[in-house]
Amino acid sequence: MKTTVLAALGFATALSMPANAEEIKVGLLLPYSGVYAALSNDIEAGFELAIEEYGSETDASFVLLREDTEVKPPVALAKAKKLILQDKVDVMAGIVSSGVLGAVRDLIDGAGVPLIVANAGNDEATGAHCSPFITRMSFSNGQVNRPMGPWMVEQGLTKVFTLAPDYAAGRQMIDGFTQTFTAAGGEIVGQEYTPFQKTQDFGPFLAKAKASGADAVYVFYAGGEAISFVKQYDSFGLKADLPLFGSGFLTSPLYVNAEGPAAEGVITALHYVPTLDSPENAAFVTAFEAKTGRTPSEYAVQGFDAARALIEATKTGAMDRDSLANALRQVHFDGPRGTLSIDPATNNIVQPIYVYETVAGDAGLTQKVLATLPATLDPVNGCAMAPVSN
Ligand code: PHB
Repeated sequence: MKTTVLAALGFATALSMPANAEEIKVGLLLPYSGVYAALSNDIEAGFELAIEEYGSETDASFVLLREDTEVKPPVALAKAKKLILQDKVDVMAGIVSSGVLGAVRDLIDGAGVPLIVANAGNDEATGAHCSPFITRMSFSNGQVNRPMGPWMVEQGLTKVFTLAPDYAAGRQMIDGFTQTFTAAGGEIVGQEYTPFQKTQDFGPFLAKAKASGADAVYVFYAGGEAISFVKQYDSFGLKADLPLFGSGFLTSPLYVNAEGPAAEGVITALHYVPTLDSPENAAFVTAFEAKTGRTPSEYAVQGFDAARALIEATKTGAMDRDSLANALRQVHFDGPRGTLSIDPATNNIVQPIYVYETVAGDAGLTQKVLATLPATLDPVNGCAMAPVSN
């Protein structure tokens, strides 16, 4: 019996796999420390779950090597070099921050190592700086936020103040929303970017939002920053007069219960919520809860689908870097979040987006789906990529 070993960062775990399996070395590049550490745990648990569930369908076995990016682009670049040059991984997966994805893009493209993006939404990585070696199984920053522009105007909210952390993801998420919101007739009455990973007190920014004359506030925050922001928004007394909207990471099921009642009534958009009503999602929620004891988040499903994409790619016989990159661009399946495919023009995922409200449920806060917005392709944004070869 061959085994899959989950190694590095000080420990190793074994998963049983078919005999005579071809060994694929996977470098998991994730922030195991910093404001996004909890996100990494869900991505990794989802990744492992897919290997446990679907690993027996392929002739490949998987060795996972983990490296901590610390959400710091220079650290991530050094760790990616180690995985590629020293550990000689066949494929990489992970990356949470858009800043980190931007920093490692040229290394990945130049070394010709396939990367399955399991979070970072950096629009450039599947736009102007796309690469046949980068395939995204998560979302792009524009994709999650663009649908909310017209949706908010339809709800009669035409004056909006925006807030986000000052780094690539914050700026791209707000730009995506702003484009469609203003095109639909909305007006941005004020826009602030808060120092990333450094802002503890959002008070001065909230005071500006309050004085702006806005009908609503639209934000992107995730992880530890989302918890602080949502709590402070409520304790500042803004929630009653100025409803809070944003991309759905703000109230992720991963940490919404740490936000508590402050999150109730917040309306956001995302590519996955655990309350989606489908047999694929029901099976995933049950399996993830059995493995971890918690409800799966968007991060968990991104890890799950990233590993599933890798398994699908190896099922076509792809086992080396070039053939894996080529096969990853062609995967499609019905997963917990709906029907997924990869746009061959950009290598970005194509998927529906859900507008949801955070509401009180029987066992804590839960997600009420208000609208399902159809899957649309991202603009190519200058991405010029060789067609898929077979
Ligand atoms: C990003 O930096 O691209 C990012 C980080 C955390 C999220 C979403 C996007 O929840």
